Amino acid sequence: MNSPFRLPEASTHAVTVDHIFYLLLLLSGATVVLVFGLILLFAVRYRRGSSAKRGPMPEILSREFEIGWTVATLLTFAFLFWWASSADLGSLAAPPSALEIHVVAKQWMWKTQHPSGAREINALHVPLDQPVHLLMSSQDVIHSFFVPAFRIKKDVVPGRDTDIWFQATKSGTFPLLCAEYCGTNHSMMRGKIVVMRQDDYAGWLVQQPEGDDLAHEGAKLFVSQGCSGCHAASSNVHAPRLAGLYGRAVQLADGRTVSADDAYIRDSILQPKRDVVAGYEPVMPSFKGLLDDGEIQSLTAYIRSLSKEQPDD
Ligand code: CUA
Repeated sequence: MNSPFRLPEASTHAVTVDHIFYLLLLLSGATVVLVFGLILLFAVRYRRGSSAKRGPMPEILSREFEIGWTVATLLTFAFLFWWASSADLGSLAAPPSALEIHVVAKQWMWKTQHPSGAREINALHVPLDQPVHLLMSSQDVIHSFFVPAFRIKKDVVPGRDTDIWFQATKSGTFPLLCAEYCGTNHSMMRGKIVVMRQDDYAGWLVQQPEGDDLAHEGAKLFVSQGCSGCHAASSNVHAPRLAGLYGRAVQLADGRTVSADDAYIRDSILQPKRDVVAGYEPVMPSFKGLLDDGEIQSLTAYIRSLSKEQPDD
């Protein structure tokens, strides 16, 4: 059904969000009709000079009525809260099988990269009926990744990674917008999401120019930026080995334990003095200003790829 008042519902999440929206609309509508109906009714019934009875309600009835409507309202709100929050919580964690796509936002464009290494600007091709997990970061200011047809919106923040996932249920082209004012050309920061049948997507990927995948690119940076001088298995410098690191718990010098996730790796590269690993000297230099967000994503992908191999120490 196409109507100017109705956005296409093109993801699994869109259906859930719309159900909640329609129920809220229905409840608010019913409340408006009830309240205004009673106002009208009472205005007519108790108009000046009418002979309607004006005495108090019988005490017992008025108490039950009071308790009744208070409890009913409370239960309705509790149900709405439970429904909306469980839908929101369900949309937080991406299924492990999801296709991982990296997104970098900058003034004023969206750059996306597929696991195969294929890159796009202001466009994102995705397969139909398959969960897609977006790992996002910003190169400058706060942007917000907004796809109305999917009912998803998530801020993309400099200096930290955010993520969001969706599963498209309709093929076609849907607008991608930036939903956070990010400077002069904020309104021009648009793109398109192209949802294709799975075999079409596979065919499209093959046609893309051969790009290095992220982990590959990260491996090159690992050498060119000098990381390997200390962190390579063969190095004589006493630095933490990175194989098997990703996803593991790390004991820090100050007694805390942290999980080696994307945020930890980013912090370790940009602010190495903050989380020093137990048993090591704080000698690593900061790479703040030397690496952009895309490069940090590549390095993270490389470190992650190492965890699939056997730890070498
Ligand atoms: Cu980017 Cu607004």
